[in-house]
Amino acid sequence: MRIAVFGASGYTGRLAVAELARRGVPAVLVGRDAGRLRSAAEEAGIAAPEIRIAAADDLAGLTAALEGCEAVVNCAGPFHRWGEGVIRAALAAGCHYVDTTGEQPYLDRAFREFDEPARRAGRAVVPGTTDDGLPSDLIAALTAARVGEAAEIALVVDLVGGGASQGTVRSMGAIRDTLLSGGLGYEDAAWVPRATARRTEMVPADESEPRPVLRFALPAMVTVPRHVPTRRFEALATKEVSDLFTTLTPELADSLPFGPEVADRTAMRWSFAVEAVGVDGRRARGVVRGRDAYGTTAVIAVEAARRLVADGAPAGVLAHAQAFDPAGFLDHLGAHGVSWSVEDEPAPGHR
Ligand SMILES: NC(=O)c1ccc[n+]([C@@H]2O[C@H](COP(=O)([O-])OP(=O)(O)OC[C@H]3O[C@@H](n4cnc5c(N)ncnc54)[C@H](OP(=O)(O)O)[C@@H]3O)[C@@H](O)[C@H]2O)c1
Repeated sequence: MRIAVFGASGYTGRLAVAELARRGVPAVLVGRDAGRLRSAAEEAGIAAPEIRIAAADDLAGLTAALEGCEAVVNCAGPFHRWGEGVIRAALAAGCHYVDTTGEQPYLDRAFREFDEPARRAGRAVVPGTTDDGLPSDLIAALTAARVGEAAEIALVVDLVGGGASQGTVRSMGAIRDTLLSGGLGYEDAAWVPRATARRTEMVPADESEPRPVLRFALPAMVTVPRHVPTRRFEALATKEVSDLFTTLTPELADSLPFGPEVADRTAMRWSFAVEAVGVDGRRARGVVRGRDAYGTTAVIAVEAARRLVADGAPAGVLAHAQAFDPAGFLDHLGAHGVSWSVEDEPAPGHR
């Protein structure tokens, strides 16, 4: 098995290369600067790295650079600028594709525009294999399964500590208005460009009291309704998380360090809580939590690419729960500090 990392010189790409080395999977480091790629290989302890040079806007060069790899982990953001070209090159080279995007508008386009090309190429495209996209999609699937057909599902993200890389600030700063306006909604079993918040508070994971929440443009809004039968889906962030993004601009990235120091990165905590209400009134609540957003993203993206190659998956653009066994994948992440649970909930008034 050979797995390419595009954007291997970046903050997240370096962690993905290191994770491939740790797993003993041969890595091909792809990017536009040989020196930066060599330093990423050195950091990962790879003695004789395979390095290939290609820029994101050079389809022929990038396709050639991906030849002979079974999958690519794309870590080169902003994805709204570079992502689609890398999907095209991956499919032309016959690679499965995963990426580390958190950008909802790009994810939405990837599902709408690349499903047919991916089916024709016989390959799986699973965008958003991050600490955000994958756990939220999988816990939503596991929670919704408890209630059968859902009338309503709500998901809330919470974060404690951490810090953001230049690349994250550049990517998320560019879509700040979309993030804060909530992005897509899902009502009456269809996506809508704008939605009105139905909830103003929700109990985050591991808490017992509700906190103020706001609609937030999470990746799960694009993926969850693709496999969970629900009339309504709401993606939310705690007010504290939403506030972190209010001053974000792409320009701010240049004044920041490359990325968080290891101690800050590993101390950071993230969590999702999901509440599902069935059309018959059954209720369930699921939680998933972990640490180290960037380190966990590298673990998730590498494991996703490895599973696509080793186990196969249907061809097309897939949500995480369509590509992987939800409980099996989350249990695999247990060794990396991720834990999860789903419980049936009594109806209101029966507590
Ligand atoms: N939970 C999440 O949602 C999550 C978690 C982790 C990362 N991410 C996302 O992943 C992306 C990467 O983050 P990061 O922190 O690793 O950013 P970064 O450190 O800025 O790295 C970006 C990488 O992309 C490469 N690149 C950019 N433009 C390119 C081009 N035109 N051609 C070839 N390579 C190009 C850069 O190569 P050079 O070295 O040559 O500049 C670098 O390797 C961001 O979009 C971030 O938001 C999301």
